[in-house]
Formats: sequence, structure tokens, C-alpha cells
Amino acid sequence: MGYNVAIDGPAGAGKSTIAKRVAKEKGYIYVDTGAMYRGLAVHFMEKGIQPDNVAEIEQACEDADVTLGYEDGVQQIYLNGRNITSRLREEAVGNMASKSSGIPKVRATLMAKTKDVVMDGRDIGTVVLPHADVKVFLTASVSCRAKRRYSELQEKGVPCKLAEIEKEIEERDYRDIHRDTSPLVQAEDAV
Ligand code: DC
Repeated sequence: MGYNVAIDGPAGAGKSTIAKRVAKEKGYIYVDTGAMYRGLAVHFMEKGIQPDNVAEIEQACEDADVTLGYEDGVQQIYLNGRNITSRLREEAVGNMASKSSGIPKVRATLMAKTKDVVMDGRDIGTVVLPHADVKVFLTASVSCRAKRRYSELQEKGVPCKLAEIEKEIEERDYRDIHRDTSPLVQAEDAV
């Protein structure tokens, strides 16, 4: 087992920004678990499955292989060998990921193999890497996180409304915190 860094927190707090920098500086692999849940979400959406259809989502996990790789130093996500990175940041994909990630079978599909890694997500310090050497819980106010997402989308030329993003973040926070499986919670030993 290598050196593990766990960074958890709600949507838009800056987890991936920090995780990428730490990984680069230390030469560790950065595993963006949110992007992997998003990759699976694309799979469910392409099959036309509704987020509340647990049986169909569980069935769809059987033929989904989500992997992470790098091209020119930039993280890519592959769904059954096809590069779907450009779809990951769509709001609909984030919402499907937030809903489907509460299903234990979905979580089991994405269990990680660990070496020297920086991982960010919701349950890294509590469930995936409970013995991580460093645990960080990164958070910020809803309005601050919504502004970060808003600027991210603006930079990409995606039309969006700040108020709608704020509302979606609040809804996602609620789902991520209140679900039964691997809820978003600060690990007792997280900074
Ligand atoms: O971090 P993100 O916004 O890319 O994550 C998208 C969704 O995936 C998030 O709403 C909850 C889920 N997720 C999770 O359940 N567990 C993780 N370790 C990472 C993300």
C-alpha cells in the first residue's frame, strides 16, 4: 500500500483543483472518483434510464467499464473504451451521478485499486481509503461554490444561470449528505 491522500467535500468546493496540484507536486496518481461516477451516469443516460429506476441501473452496471487515463497529461474517462470526457461536466450528467451514486451496486462497480494516490470524492476518507495518510474535508458556502461552477461553465461557453446552479448545488448537497450508502460526511480524523 502506498501513500494515500483523501479529499472529500461537497460539489464545487475545489476538491479536484487541490487534488491535481498535490498529485503533480508529489508525482502521485490523481483519481477523480466523481468523474468516474459521472462516466457511469453517461452510460445510464445513453440507455435512456431514469435516475429513480434502480433495477435498470443495477442491470446496466453489468456492461459498463469505466476507466481513467491520461492524454498529454490531461485526465480522460473512457466508457467501454470510448472517450466520453467532453460530456462529463454537463449538469444533467452531474445530477444523474448524484442520484445513481447512492445505489450500492453503482459504488461497488467503481471500487478503486490503490497505490500512491490523491483521491477526491464524497466517501474517500470514510469508506474508500479509511487509512489514508492525509485526510482533507474541503468545503465552502453554496454561493461561493455556485460561482465557481458558473465561471467554469462560462469559460466553456455553456449557457447557464447562477440562481439555477445554486439551486442544483443545494439539491445535490442534500442528496449526497442524506443518502444511506456512503453519505458525504467529514471523517473524524479529517482536517
Ligand atoms: O465531485 P463531482 O461533482 O464530480 O461528483 C458527481 C457526483 O458523484 C456527486 O454528486 C456524488 C457522486 N460521488 C460520490 O457519490 N462519491 C464519490 N466518491 C465521488 C462522487
